[in-house]
Amino acid sequence: MSEVKEIAELFELELDLPNAGIAASAKRLVGFENRYQKLHRALRLLADPEELRAWSRKYHHQELAVCSAVSDRYPLVIFAGDVGTGKTVTAEGACDRLARDARKEAMLFKLSTRVRGSGKVGQMSTLLNQAFDVVAKQAGKTRQAFLIIDEGDSLASTRDTVQSHHEDKVAVNTIIQKVDDLRRHSGRILVFLCTNRAGALDPAIVRRAAVSEQFDRPTDQEREELFRMDLGGLTIKDQTLRELVRLTGPRDGRPGLTFSDLRSKLLPDALCRAFPSRGLTEDDLIAAAKEVRPSPVVGNG
Ligand SMILES: Nc1ncnc2c1ncn2[C@@H]1O[C@H](COP(=O)(O)OP(=O)(O)OP(=O)(O)O)[C@@H](O)[C@H]1O
Ligand SMILES: [Mg+2]
Repeated sequence: MSEVKEIAELFELELDLPNAGIAASAKRLVGFENRYQKLHRALRLLADPEELRAWSRKYHHQELAVCSAVSDRYPLVIFAGDVGTGKTVTAEGACDRLARDARKEAMLFKLSTRVRGSGKVGQMSTLLNQAFDVVAKQAGKTRQAFLIIDEGDSLASTRDTVQSHHEDKVAVNTIIQKVDDLRRHSGRILVFLCTNRAGALDPAIVRRAAVSEQFDRPTDQEREELFRMDLGGLTIKDQTLRELVRLTGPRDGRPGLTFSDLRSKLLPDALCRAFPSRGLTEDDLIAAAKEVRPSPVVGNG
């Protein structure tokens, strides 16, 4: 099998960063900048242990114990939370920004669910090993590389349950081993693991994460921000905006809409009511907000 074919089977996406499309999507995410700044600060601690020790000597005239505590962490970021709350788009956007800020050539890989293989003994861990090796090879000695493991609970779920299959346990061990190995690359290779079942992740994986970020359904303020952004160019009364925020929040015992419900259900629904014969009105938006149901909440187990 040629290397190209192997790579195509391991990854569902491979692209060079920076990427204008990803940057444009990240720009349209409510709260992205705050999350990114927090992530960036945490990852700087990982990237250069020597820089951290120098900081400690400069400001504390000694190498503080806290510096070694920090170096126990691994180049692993966990994004956990409900469906449609922006884990995948934020991971892609963060990789793009990290590459821009580091001013280094970088590559983004997204692991394919095909690495689960067809169930043959040892196949999943062989494919995982190959995937991490390709990422490390692409990063070489100077470049950056990012690996996004989406729906990570399907590969890294806890080994500690009766249902846990032998192959799954081997896969978790492989991921742990490979993330450990990545420490040699001083933060140039970073793994993002996204999951909507954080409680199902293996504790050994959770413990290793340098950053764990929780994603929730948007608050009133965040939904308002999204409406203001996406309805730019239209004249919408404050009262209508408030009603949209109310209708899309938790009410009558049901959860609020997710970011994805707002963008890929509510707004297209409103548009469909007007297009192509007339302009979009406030009534269309209110009608859509009354109509669209929130995605069911995905639990933590
Ligand atoms: N912060 C945000 N601001 C605005 N829109 C957002 C935000 N987060 C997500 N979205 C919208 O929701 C869509 C889905 O986001 P994404 O695929 O990242 O969700 P997810 O958390 O990975 O969901 P899943 O758990 O189902 O994989 C995005 O394409 C975007 O349109
Ligand atoms: Mg996702």
